[in-house]
Amino acid sequence: MHEQSIFTQSVHAGERGPRPDYEPAVGPIHHSVVYLYDDVERLHQVLAGQRDGYAYSRNGNPTTAALEQAMAVLEAGGGAVAFASGMAAIHAALLACGLERGDHIIAAQDLYGVTHTLLQQVLPALGLRSRFVEVERTEQVVAALEQERPRLLLLETLSNPLLKVADLPALVEAARRVGTRVVVDNTFASPYLLRPLELGADYVVHSLTKYLAGHDDVLGGVVVSGKELLPPLRSLAQVLGAVPGPNEAWLAHRGLKTLALRMRQHCQNAARVADWLEKHPRVERVYYPGLSSHPQHQLAARLLRPGAFGGMLAFELAARTAEAAIGLMNRLRLILPGTSLGCIHSLMLHPACSSHRGLSPEQRAAWGISEGLLRLSVGIEEAGDIIADLEQALG
Ligand SMILES: Cc1ncc(COP(=O)(O)O)c(C=O)c1O
Repeated sequence: MHEQSIFTQSVHAGERGPRPDYEPAVGPIHHSVVYLYDDVERLHQVLAGQRDGYAYSRNGNPTTAALEQAMAVLEAGGGAVAFASGMAAIHAALLACGLERGDHIIAAQDLYGVTHTLLQQVLPALGLRSRFVEVERTEQVVAALEQERPRLLLLETLSNPLLKVADLPALVEAARRVGTRVVVDNTFASPYLLRPLELGADYVVHSLTKYLAGHDDVLGGVVVSGKELLPPLRSLAQVLGAVPGPNEAWLAHRGLKTLALRMRQHCQNAARVADWLEKHPRVERVYYPGLSSHPQHQLAARLLRPGAFGGMLAFELAARTAEAAIGLMNRLRLILPGTSLGCIHSLMLHPACSSHRGLSPEQRAAWGISEGLLRLSVGIEEAGDIIADLEQALG
């Protein structure tokens, strides 16, 4: 019997033992990039897409697949594909719509700043133009869809940073009539508030980094769709290669388990904070769909989970200057002055200097993102403590 050297033993020892007859209650993290079969023919069939299985982690990984299955359930889709970030997910969803040189996109004006950068600075090099519309003016958007028949419509359910609400059923219906694909970024709402696929959207995208993972410790993205639209997305993930690592996928999946609980608390807290801010003399205006002063409050009440309006709000200081906004952020003691949203702790940012700094000052001014605007992601702490912190920082 040939005895292997320590060089060989150290490479293979402890791997690929007999199959256990037990099963862990929580799925493991599969770090393996390569997957083996008793018969190499099977490996080749998996690679050729003729049978289910895993061959190479960029094409599919069991830990990532568990996250994708969970997301498909939560967003009522036929399947999902996970990505390394929300931006990678948006990029892939746009390309999966079959964009060709010369096509044009109609996009909501009120979008995450880096999504704008993608549309305005990256896609034009591929011969793709974007036109921005005020998504809350439903009739104008419907007219633009009918006249221009774009390849796709891109919008956010609750927009970043002004919390505008899109009339998804009306827009989806108009888009369907003219053969336009609809991509919805549901990051702010999460499937707790609304499931765009149920309203007829084609692709739903998320930054997993936010509410879904929820703890500010993982970066990721995901696209969910009906079964028939999944193949181009899966191929793009394999070719572009921006897939999450198994640790990230596992953390995001674990975050999902408490999504509904966290969202319930985020929504309750945000409603209290918005109400309080609206009465404060140093605050000129609060943007929160749960307030009756919000221009689309009725629409939000019709579209979102009853009694819940999300955990995000924005507010305008009466002083209206960047100095006043940044001064307030520097005085915060509980709320974290940081660039993200949707996690357990409350986070505040100044859109003009962070999420929307890629827009020109003229564009920001025209689109209502003023120097005195602050965005607050209300966490799951006790609402009274969040309000106390705002009170001392405003005072
Ligand atoms: C609405 C929205 N979509 C997408 C993204 C991009 O996500 P990621 O940072 O995971 O790439 C963000 C990030 O803040 C966002 O706010």
